[in-house]
Amino acid sequence: MRLTCVFIMILTLGSPLRADDAQAAKDATIVETLLRLKTIDVNASAKLKAAVLRHLELRKGTAKYVELVTKLKLRGVEEELLRVAIEDPATTQGVGAATLLLEREHVGLILERIDGKDEAVATKVVAALGYVGNKQAIEVLKPLVTDQTRSRPVRTAVANALGRSRLGERFLMTIVEQEKLPADLNFTVANVLYASTDETIRAEIAKYLKLPETANSKPLPPITELAKRKGDVAHGSELFKMKATCSKCHKVRGEGKEVGPDLSEIGSKLSREAMFVSILDPSAGISHNYETYQVILDSGNIVSGLKISETDDEITIRDPESIDKTFAKDGVEEIIKSTISLMPADLQKTMSAEDLVDVVEFLGTLKKPGT
Ligand code: HEC
Repeated sequence: MRLTCVFIMILTLGSPLRADDAQAAKDATIVETLLRLKTIDVNASAKLKAAVLRHLELRKGTAKYVELVTKLKLRGVEEELLRVAIEDPATTQGVGAATLLLEREHVGLILERIDGKDEAVATKVVAALGYVGNKQAIEVLKPLVTDQTRSRPVRTAVANALGRSRLGERFLMTIVEQEKLPADLNFTVANVLYASTDETIRAEIAKYLKLPETANSKPLPPITELAKRKGDVAHGSELFKMKATCSKCHKVRGEGKEVGPDLSEIGSKLSREAMFVSILDPSAGISHNYETYQVILDSGNIVSGLKISETDDEITIRDPESIDKTFAKDGVEEIIKSTISLMPADLQKTMSAEDLVDVVEFLGTLKKPGT
């Protein structure tokens, strides 16, 4: 008697799961059949489509998902494809999803995100197109690089994305030759083209753009090459505090001034390449809350710095020397948010390439406790 009770309990508990399993097995069979019978249009039958969608639901975000959508020519999942492309641009599924959107002429959907207010999303979509790197992707990217209505971080992402394919590199080279490249992208594009595997592109770019110079007036190698070098942590730490003047603006574990962000855990936040970019081209991507403000005073004087506080009556600005200055609003003519970082763009000039690698090596050791 008791045994039957337990048996019934197991049956009832187990049954919903088994029903799901049965459904999943059925759906899998349908999908397999559809893959074999290539003549059937999934989109024409609501029942078949429902089975395929249930099957896909369990595989969201994977390369298998994108593969099935491609092979079955399934329509109506474009938003999910875009989500995958944005979330994992540098993966098989991300590239597959973005490629499919381009092939199916959903360029509008892609541009909608690039044009949207969310800069982080826009730069990720752009990155995805760069990893796709085919003619269709390049065509979408081309007009964006010179479009000054777009923010600098988006245009920088576009230049980097174009630099991932030969077609894109050639296009960047043409823009440089025609002198159409916006000056704020000089560093990004020089870095991309000096690192090209095409010798003629490297020779050609050298006629137009230089990489930043170090202490001995020697140009730096491109960042991809710098990032491969190994540095001396102790020397980097010393440079950070002394010659390179980083401590004038950055705190590390309680030491240093607070003009820029605290760098005590920067090694957990940025890749080596991103650290080189932060130092050599600070305005390419300005950290949130660290935008530079220019306060134009009635006297004609202009004071630049970070905005520490602002009320109806006054504004407080922290200048590059870490001095806070407060101005009464009735003596202020205009307050402008600048697109230029407060961090100087030529800090490498007092260092050698080796010094710079040492500083980045040191930054790389600054990790969140326990990692
Ligand atoms: C005059 C002040 C100043 C000096 C000197 C300076 N920085 Fe900065 N730094 C800033 C400011 C302000 C920011 C934030 C704005 C931005 O992202 O450009 C910043 C941002 C950074 C970032 C990015 C931080 C993040 O969270 O993304 C890194 C890395 C960095 N600096 C490293 C350095 C190093 C290394 C040096 C020395 C070689 C240095 N800085 C010298 C002011 C300075």
